[in-house]
Amino acid sequence: MKSCTYKKIILFITLFSLSLFAGQTAALKVVNPSQASISEENIVSFVVEADSASVDSVVITTDTNEAFNIEINPKRSHYCKSINLHFGQNSIKVVGYKKNAVVKEESRDVFLTSKVDKEYRYPPQKYNKIYFHNEENEKICASCHDMKVNEVQGIAFEDITKSNCYGCHKNVTKEKHGHAPAVNWLCTSCHNGKVGIYNQTDKDKTKYSVPDPIGEICFSCHKKNKEEWSKKQFHHEPADSGRCNKCHNSHSSQSEFYLRKSAWELCTGCHKDKIEGMHVVKTFGQKPHPTYGVKDPSRAGKELSCISCHNPHVSNAPSLLQSSTVFGLCSRCHKK
Ligand code: HEC
Ligand code: HEC
Ligand code: HEC
Ligand code: HEC
Ligand code: HEC
Ligand code: HEC
Ligand code: HEC
Ligand code: HEC
Repeated sequence: MKSCTYKKIILFITLFSLSLFAGQTAALKVVNPSQASISEENIVSFVVEADSASVDSVVITTDTNEAFNIEINPKRSHYCKSINLHFGQNSIKVVGYKKNAVVKEESRDVFLTSKVDKEYRYPPQKYNKIYFHNEENEKICASCHDMKVNEVQGIAFEDITKSNCYGCHKNVTKEKHGHAPAVNWLCTSCHNGKVGIYNQTDKDKTKYSVPDPIGEICFSCHKKNKEEWSKKQFHHEPADSGRCNKCHNSHSSQSEFYLRKSAWELCTGCHKDKIEGMHVVKTFGQKPHPTYGVKDPSRAGKELSCISCHNPHVSNAPSLLQSSTVFGLCSRCHKK
């Protein structure tokens, strides 16, 4: 009997404090992203919780002075906006107003990393990676967004807007050249929740982790490439180690083959010392050989670039040359 009364009292206290807690809706709270987070994609999702009793509008302002105005209404608790990022530190301000007076101000620093440019490769110490997709975070969104995976393995969506991932992530596929599995919203063909030797720390942090290195996943669809490349004698380090995503964006890009940058810019991101082309012709008193800015006689309609002479992945010639001998290479463009 006694313990039953205790239980009732405890239950009462719990309910009472819960109701108190529920009464204290924050005037304004930035739910995502957390402060000082790292992003690998050039987009971050701002989710703001706002209480219409204390705030009637919210303005999100980026450090490039883009501003987004959100009207707060009594029927809604959360407001969502995708924000574009530039490389390095982005400082984004969220200000809540009531009748044009500032009620509350919050800010978020988000660091967009680059896999190519050394200056943006390693964020300062204060930053931490975003891991959004866990039960706790998803619960906040589930009242308005369907958080389940609804893709059928290997079968493209006829109407991509029906993918449950689309509403929140449509911007990952917005660039001109889109990669088939991404533009068909087969996201989990890569985001299988597993980790690789280079991202052990992502283990169990998010449902949608992707193994680093990603190579074996790429080859699971690009079987022919694997077969052909494995027969070659020389392999380019970043491709050989399976880190295809150093050069390719898996989703979409402004460059052909979903390259993160045009081929020349990609190569010189890691090999700056080769820009002048001093390495091409090795004779006494050598002159630089062009590596860009002129037409490529060996590839109709294309500009000369590093890949005119080098294969980005593999080769049977040293230095990944496009021909089996240096002389053979020269004569691709210099006849006679
Ligand atoms: C109260 C309902 C509601 C809740 C809760 C909610 N959202 Fe949304 N969200 C929407 C609606 C509605 C849209 C469509 C765009 C609009 O009307 O704002 C949207 C759009 C989005 C977008 C796309 C924004 C853009 O600019 O393209 C993202 C990203 C997003 N939500 C993320 C989230 C996340 C993450 C959570 C949970 C932390 C969440 N939302 C919680 C209602 C909600
Ligand atoms: C309610 C909105 C919402 C929906 C629906 C959603 N996501 Fe996300 N997702 C986010 C947010 C917010 C982040 C954190 C990064 C950011 O701010 O954009 C994120 C991050 C990710 C990441 C990076 C890893 C992580 O957990 O942070 C992957 C991968 C991802 N989402 C895949 C998916 C896939 C696949 C689906 C569909 C099954 C999906 N998402 C559905 C909002 C959403
Ligand atoms: C071909 C493989 C592949 C497919 C398909 C794919 N992704 Fe990714 N995704 C990756 C890789 C690899 C990364 C790791 C970061 C990078 O390389 O830029 C990534 C990163 C991300 C991130 C950013 C994570 C961060 O840390 O900032 C989000 C968000 C994301 N993917 C969402 C999606 C969504 C949504 C889809 C479906 C439309 C999708 N991805 C399809 C391979 C893929
Ligand atoms: C789920 C299957 C699948 C996965 C996984 C996949 N791809 Fe693809 N990829 C395709 C399809 C389908 C195409 C379009 C058809 C084609 O050109 O082969 C394509 C096209 C490409 C192209 C353009 C080929 C061309 O000639 O235009 C590149 C580059 C590419 N993928 C790179 C990658 C990389 C890098 C990865 C790993 C990060 C990857 N793919 C993972 C299915 C996949
Ligand atoms: C060092 C940068 C780099 C890395 C790393 C890299 N690629 Fe590529 N990839 C390129 C470039 C540049 C092209 C375009 C070649 C052209 O224009 O002829 C390309 C083209 C492709 C193509 C289409 C043409 C073809 O050869 O079939 C596929 C498929 C592809 N890459 C897959 C991959 C896969 C899979 C990996 C990882 C095992 C990978 N790449 C790693 C730079 C890279
Ligand atoms: C992410 C960094 C990265 C990018 C981008 C990159 N490389 Fe490399 N490359 C390396 C590393 C690492 C090595 C091996 C160590 C070294 O020789 O510096 C290498 C080696 C090479 C070699 C020498 C190979 C040998 O067998 O001696 C050539 C040639 C080369 N890269 C050409 C290119 C070309 C062409 C591109 C553009 C398509 C490119 N690289 C883009 C990192 C990169
Ligand atoms: C006109 C042809 C040509 C062009 C264009 C060219 N290279 Fe080379 N590259 C060569 C030749 C030939 C060698 C081999 C030199 C030797 O072994 O004597 C070489 C060697 C290399 C090596 C390995 C040897 C070393 O010195 O480390 C790298 C790395 C390299 N090139 C990168 C690049 C990059 C990056 C670009 C674009 C900025 C580029 N190359 C443009 C012809 C070219
Ligand atoms: C992919 C095409 C290509 C390859 C391969 C190539 N070149 Fe060139 N080379 C060019 C172009 C384009 C020019 C610039 C011509 C112009 O400005 O009209 C050039 C210029 C030169 C020049 C300067 C000539 C002048 O008129 O000023 C020399 C010397 C030269 N190349 C030698 C070589 C040697 C040696 C090799 C082999 C190691 C080689 N090239 C490989 C395309 C190539």
